[in-house]
Amino acid sequence: MIITQTKAELEAALALWRAEGARIAFIPTMGNLHAGHLHLVDTAKSQADRVVVSIFVNPTQFGPGEDLAAYPRTPDQDIERLRGRQADLLYLPEASDIYPDGDQPATFVEVPGLSEQLCGQFRPGHFRGVATVVCKLLNRVRPDLALFGEKDFQQLAIIRRMVHDLDIPVRIEGVPTVREPSGLAMSSRNGYLGAEEKQRAALIYRTLSEAAEAVRAGARDYPRVEQEAADALASSGFSVDYVSIRRQQDLASPTAADHALVILAAARLGQTRLIDNILFSLDTNN
Ligand code: PAJ
Repeated sequence: MIITQTKAELEAALALWRAEGARIAFIPTMGNLHAGHLHLVDTAKSQADRVVVSIFVNPTQFGPGEDLAAYPRTPDQDIERLRGRQADLLYLPEASDIYPDGDQPATFVEVPGLSEQLCGQFRPGHFRGVATVVCKLLNRVRPDLALFGEKDFQQLAIIRRMVHDLDIPVRIEGVPTVREPSGLAMSSRNGYLGAEEKQRAALIYRTLSEAAEAVRAGARDYPRVEQEAADALASSGFSVDYVSIRRQQDLASPTAADHALVILAAARLGQTRLIDNILFSLDTNN
């Protein structure tokens, strides 16, 4: 696996593969890689000739008082895991390589509307930072295909919209969420949880599954389903930011005609903010 730390080194390594006409897949991450990230790598391997992964804890997507300083950084372990999955290139830049003029660049990428709801309401500026860094990384890597986890479903929707609106020539692929046996969605932030909290955190998935099941079984008063799920989490000690049923396509509130739905939640256990979602369909046979 080639490891590059600068834009120039990255460009040089990619030029050879581009000249060969290789199909390049790209997976941006913030590191502390777990089975969810590695599943993206495996999926990419099956669809491309070369797989490029980036690890960059992007300061512009963390708000004041968020966990930028505490965010787990485990580069040696990450390199080993990526080698184990036969990733071809790791781009591991410093902040000065991504933001040579400091992390308040003059230009940001914003996807209004989609970015202001759900997590955006609780993390102002977060998705502006995400869209900006992903746009920059896509411009540097210029992959044929970029893979993102459905675990961060709102992020995936925002990136799809950005790529569509800005004519970025890449195919965006969403990859299903990898979970612990308990149902807890794998996340770098799970490392903040103690053993008891980690067990309790699995309640998010269970609660969302039950709510989705209730809707599939005929419940149509969505605000009520959302409130009951939020109450169940609150009574188990979660501080709930939201539980919301939306349509998958654009995260708008579902109408009676919408069948492809998603139930999303964000809740805090102590200092740890967890998100999860479940995609489901109202069609009777799936
Ligand atoms: P990070 O949280 O490291 O996630 C990197 C990618 O892995 C994202 O596409 C995320 O959705 C996916 N992922 C995380 N946990 C997953 C799981 N349990 N199952 C499947 N996929 C999972 O998301 C980011 O980094 C950043 O916002 C980034 C896009 C890199 C921009 O800085």
